[in-house]
Amino acid sequence: MSAVMHAVKNRHSTRAFLPRAVDEALVREIIDAARYSPSSGNLQPWKLIVLSGGSLQQLKKEVAHTLAQSPRGEGMGYPIYPENLGAAYQARRAQCGEDLYATLNVARDDRSGRAKQFAKNFTFFGAPVGMLLAVDRGMGAGQWADLGMFLQTIMLLAHERGLATCAQACWTLVHKTVERHLELPDELMVFCGIALGYSDPEHPINSLRTARAPLDELAEFRGFE
Ligand SMILES: Cc1cc2nc3c(=O)[nH]c(=O)nc-3n(C[C@H](O)[C@H](O)[C@H](O)COP(=O)(O)O)c2cc1C
Repeated sequence: MSAVMHAVKNRHSTRAFLPRAVDEALVREIIDAARYSPSSGNLQPWKLIVLSGGSLQQLKKEVAHTLAQSPRGEGMGYPIYPENLGAAYQARRAQCGEDLYATLNVARDDRSGRAKQFAKNFTFFGAPVGMLLAVDRGMGAGQWADLGMFLQTIMLLAHERGLATCAQACWTLVHKTVERHLELPDELMVFCGIALGYSDPEHPINSLRTARAPLDELAEFRGFE
């Protein structure tokens, strides 16, 4: 299997990390290569803030303070999902949540257990590197799709280099605190966070492997002999 195929098929979201630090040179190498991600019109509409050490601790502290005051967050900077998510998409989303909490033996009706796990998002799940991916507020759907290119490239390269990641849209729930703390210019808004580090192989949550729809459900092949 080629390195790309291997990374695509084996990358998965990681939600528990070892305390082991990640070399700055390695993080730089990954992001430097991710610059080659494609974007419509080559706009490269991404801005990444990479935090570690004291800078990461400071952000987590600020966010913890905000969540202590407003446990539900600050309202979303953008809707993560459309208001009327169709039944098929709802089912996939619910399944993903069920499977995630099942790895921890957290029951469906255990609201506080689920909330406790969800809150770990705002520590980057203990990852030694936390990144915030931002975009110009004026950008539209096309450029947000480009952000996905950049995000996936980072995650695949990280995987290839033995690192683990988790993309985290939930950071939009504390977007005001994050944007203020990072002193982002007014024209930039946070799209998502990315936890980066070495996976904790012993942690049950990292055993989650999500399902995918079969090929013929998502693609139609026409005109092949
Ligand atoms: C843009 C984006 C945002 C995400 N936000 C979160 C998040 O806030 N918290 C979380 O635990 N997982 C988050 N995920 C991870 C997804 O749940 C995960 O990618 C999906 O269930 C497929 O699983 P896999 O990444 O292990 O293949 C996000 C993924 C993407 C691509």
